[in-house]
Amino acid sequence: MDPEAIRVGGICGSLGSKSYNLLLLRAAAEMMPEDVLYEEIPIGDLPLYNPDLDGDSAPEAVRLFRDRVKAVDGLLFTVPEYNYSLTGALKNALDWASRPVADSGLYDKPAAIMGASQGTFGTVRAQLHFRHVAVFTNMHLVNKPEVLVREPRAKFSADGRLEDGETRQLVGQLVRELVRWTRVVRSGRAELSAR
Ligand SMILES: Cc1cc2nc3c(=O)[nH]c(=O)nc-3n(C[C@H](O)[C@H](O)[C@H](O)COP(=O)(O)O)c2cc1C
Repeated sequence: MDPEAIRVGGICGSLGSKSYNLLLLRAAAEMMPEDVLYEEIPIGDLPLYNPDLDGDSAPEAVRLFRDRVKAVDGLLFTVPEYNYSLTGALKNALDWASRPVADSGLYDKPAAIMGASQGTFGTVRAQLHFRHVAVFTNMHLVNKPEVLVREPRAKFSADGRLEDGETRQLVGQLVRELVRWTRVVRSGRAELSAR
């Protein structure tokens, strides 16, 4: 493994096996530069956040999830919109990842978001709520481009490939920007710790 290679984790905010946001995440994964180590980090096995379950004896699924989030240099999220906000599943995953505060896998982490929804605005409200959460958890989100995929049915082929040219272009741009930003943060950190 190239020690210089950056690691990016992908998290899909929908638990559906036929999720458009999962297809979107996988389309982005295919666009990762070859020297990026990419892995999908599932959130479906996480229990609902409960402080009684947290601590040294947190469930195995939580420990594994936290370790995976901590191990990557950057995160790419797809943010489906449920009732004008992010899904409960995604918020729950962020809640687990954000604790304990002194050892949060989200803190100082470069990240990017995108989303697909049936509505006219293509997850814009969910993405805004995500950005709100990102402030408190201190993730450093890429601002542009905004990837808001409306009417996803028309943009993916029957076998799940992202066909729409404009969307592919935007997703590619977001991936490049996330990788660039992740490299900037990592090299800045290395420089500071070498002083
Ligand atoms: C509980 C629920 C609430 C939803 N609320 C919204 C909404 O506020 N805005 C929107 O654009 N779509 C909404 N939708 C439609 C979802 O965007 C659509 O189901 C989308 O495909 C979900 O993402 P997925 O395909 O990745 O699972 C909602 C769907 C569900 C199940």
